[in-house]
Amino acid sequence: MTASNFPDVVANLKWHDHAVTRTMREELNGHRGCTLWYTGLSGSGKSTLANEVSAALHAMGVRTYVLDGDNIRQGLNRGLSFSEEDRRENIRRIAEVAKLFSDAGLVTGAAFISPYREERALARSLQPDTFLEIHVKADLATCEKRDPKGLYAKARAGEIRQFTGIDAPYEEPQNPEVVVDTAKNSLADCARLVVHALKQRRLIP
Ligand code: ADX
Repeated sequence: MTASNFPDVVANLKWHDHAVTRTMREELNGHRGCTLWYTGLSGSGKSTLANEVSAALHAMGVRTYVLDGDNIRQGLNRGLSFSEEDRRENIRRIAEVAKLFSDAGLVTGAAFISPYREERALARSLQPDTFLEIHVKADLATCEKRDPKGLYAKARAGEIRQFTGIDAPYEEPQNPEVVVDTAKNSLADCARLVVHALKQRRLIP
């Protein structure tokens, strides 16, 4: 059960403002805190791109962190399945974590399939001015050919159910800030597009 199921719980909480503010952290860092939300099919290259961007930014002196599905599901979100309900809960929690990491002053990469528009919109609504949605696009055939974890093969064989793109839906973004096609463009070129989008919005110098 979450606190939102219990209005009384929320009613008896008080928000604390802290002595060190977000603005102070951002001034110290020399850049804004924000979230790069990477969405796409399994095997589309979300984590790879998030890491490439993170490395490029780090080399420029920008403080970064990457949250990704495979890692978070082994810790914070351990116990969540791939049912529609659990995926929505997975993303709801990560949306909150990403908001905190942005508030902490980091350029935060969040690499999750995040197949539902509604939860991506929720993630955006928590930090509308510091949220960039990046559609990591690679057609299903390409992702399936890459199959880095052998999961598409298992899904086709019926050993895994509710696999995104096979027997679970993926709702494509309608207005993402950045679209990268990892089937057609190099990793370096895709990363450059993301870094450019940050500079354009003056989130980094
Ligand atoms: S999400 O749909 O809830 O956003 P998330 O990004 O956290 O997914 O996790 C996706 C990763 O879990 C995939 O990259 C893959 O390695 C693994 N995985 C295991 N089972 C499934 C499945 N049924 N559908 C998609 N990914 C799966």
